[in-house]
Amino acid sequence: SNYETILTETRGRVGWITLNRPEALNALNAQLMHDVVHAATTFDANPAIGAIVVTGSERAFAAGADIKEMESKSGLDMIMDDHFGPWARFAAVRTPVIAAVSGYALGGGCELAMMCDIVLAADTAKFGQPEINLGVIPGMGGTQRLLRAVGYAKAAELVLTGRMMGAEEAERCGLVSRVVAASDLLEEAGKVADTIASKSLPSVYAAKAALDAAMETSLAEGLRFERHAFAPLFDTADQKEGMAAFREKRAPNFGNA
Ligand code: HXC
Repeated sequence: SNYETILTETRGRVGWITLNRPEALNALNAQLMHDVVHAATTFDANPAIGAIVVTGSERAFAAGADIKEMESKSGLDMIMDDHFGPWARFAAVRTPVIAAVSGYALGGGCELAMMCDIVLAADTAKFGQPEINLGVIPGMGGTQRLLRAVGYAKAAELVLTGRMMGAEEAERCGLVSRVVAASDLLEEAGKVADTIASKSLPSVYAAKAALDAAMETSLAEGLRFERHAFAPLFDTADQKEGMAAFREKRAPNFGNA
């Protein structure tokens, strides 16, 4: 891959993005943000890709936004560079994204994991929003997505104290879907990604969009969204194939590229 701060790879129908700034525990500087956004949107535009995995190193998924890069900025600089704005394009990809988290996922690292659809954690994972220790607050969605993921009580404690939580606690409170042994993390993430990538792509896009809608709307609005996302899938060849395969007691053969 031709990126400075990440490695990318395609394995079957899965696009892999590995954050690769080991000297800074994968701190998210502007270059890394642009690299990740470019890689993710490129995978997203490719119908031969059905799922994306984002991971870091054993020691750190990402230890946050790059403090050394931000330190001297003014408030006006943050507004004029739209410092974290491009992450919105990462959060908006239609392809499901799995975060495979080992070690530190702090600040922007935790926020990046929360932009993903599924978070798998190694038993070594540590999550937190330590920005309060730096005299600032989360700036990539931490106050909003953490609260929606874990509820007010836990989010308020983590954001106001900066305390880190381990993988077990993160699973218990709903931030991560599953905890696995650190040595199995990438294999497990690959299995989840392969499973998703084997489904009918239009149904996967519709399912992700409907789940996203649930985070943003009232129940009535969300149910309306779901109905409107559900109906058109009956015009896909994959729906006919999926239901015929059930009736014929065989595995479906979806028309993925
Ligand atoms: C820049 C970082 C960094 C970061 C680590 N490094 N985190 N550089 N930005 N966020 C660098 C260190 O400076 C050091 O490089 C190298 O990575 C290894 O880190 P150490 O601290 O030596 O490792 P260790 O003692 O094991 O401690 C690990 C750690 C600690 C607990 C994760 O690094 C840490 O507390 N990092 C900062 C975590 C944080 O506050 N994140 C939130 C950032 S703010 P050198 O070359 O110095 O040895 C954020 C959102 C901001 O994400 C939004 C509001 C504007």
